[in-house]
Amino acid sequence: MKKFLICPAIVGAYLSLVSCMTNENPDRISVKQFGVLDDGRAVQVYTLKNSAGSSIDILDLGGIITAINVPDRDGTLADIALGFDNPEQYLTDSPYMGALVGRYANRIAKGKFTLDGNDYSLAINNMGNALHGGIVGFDKKIWQSAASTADDAAILTLSLVSPDGDEGYPGALSATVTYTFDDQNRLTISYHATTDKATVVNLTNHSYFNLNGHNAGSILDHVMMINAATYTPVDETLIPTREISPVKGTAFDFENAKPIGRDIGAGEQQIQYGLGYDHNWVLEKSSPNDFELAAAVYSPKSGRMISLYTDQPGLQFYTGNFLDGTVTGKDNTRYQKRGAFCLETQHFPDSPNHPNFPTTILRPGETYETTTVFEFGILEQD
Ligand code: GLA
Repeated sequence: MKKFLICPAIVGAYLSLVSCMTNENPDRISVKQFGVLDDGRAVQVYTLKNSAGSSIDILDLGGIITAINVPDRDGTLADIALGFDNPEQYLTDSPYMGALVGRYANRIAKGKFTLDGNDYSLAINNMGNALHGGIVGFDKKIWQSAASTADDAAILTLSLVSPDGDEGYPGALSATVTYTFDDQNRLTISYHATTDKATVVNLTNHSYFNLNGHNAGSILDHVMMINAATYTPVDETLIPTREISPVKGTAFDFENAKPIGRDIGAGEQQIQYGLGYDHNWVLEKSSPNDFELAAAVYSPKSGRMISLYTDQPGLQFYTGNFLDGTVTGKDNTRYQKRGAFCLETQHFPDSPNHPNFPTTILRPGETYETTTVFEFGILEQD
């Protein structure tokens, strides 16, 4: 298995030597074959482990997180990430479960945008709009992968080059995503990209969580806080209207923690459009791009908790509204509506068509750099 544990190439550099040596330690990171796709390509799964006994499984296919095993308040591990046992299902059945989403996470209206006077057309794959990077987005590509370790963490580095014109997007985009899982049960996801032509970029991870276990049923009892006083309302195809509206007095107010299910049945038009929560919250920041607490969610039943930190301006909070029991996931589980939630840190949907939203344009010579941390903890009491 060691052949997949790639050492840095700079021979003689002290840090590289240390890194190579620590790479030999399978206690922190190991790799094996996850399966073979119908077209014959093999898919590898890396397991990132920590001294707390927790572990996270990640594929080189789509950078997909297939499992997150973390303790409840009694120390009992459960896998809190929805997913599939068979790699092909991630190409055919999966609503982006666990995946790295790109080049543009979320929607672009009618798959069209104009940049520097040039018009671009993307594949339409969702209610007349472009969603999550297209037909073969970053979630469906096999990434180059390299494992390494630090003193207190396992590190998986994934990279790919998306060619000029890929899914209609301009410019060759070189993307690198680093997953770091440390001894404090923190998963840090660092995204990095450069381009050779002006383009738009919006990367995220699309994990589906259920803090009672991936097959434990509804998440409506989970208690959620979102550090946002405003959100971006949408039309019936989930494209932002352009407004930035206060959450106060609406079902979208999570400034004070409340159960996800408390207002999800409200008759509000926005909830009807989303079939539940499927919206972008505008995160409160001391100053733009500050790395701050974005949200916290816990399960009163298990005590498991996620604290989410990001430098991104937005958070898509999605309550698994399109899960309908039709696909069979891990352990023969039929994932049902509201069986999970997603916390997609991001720029706002359809930003290329909304000059009043923070820009998603990346130009040659610039670097797209962003970091999100999922901290898996315990809340002892309600
Ligand atoms: C995102 C979108 C949802 C849905 C899911 C995938 O969260 O906002 O509308 O498309 O991805 O099913």
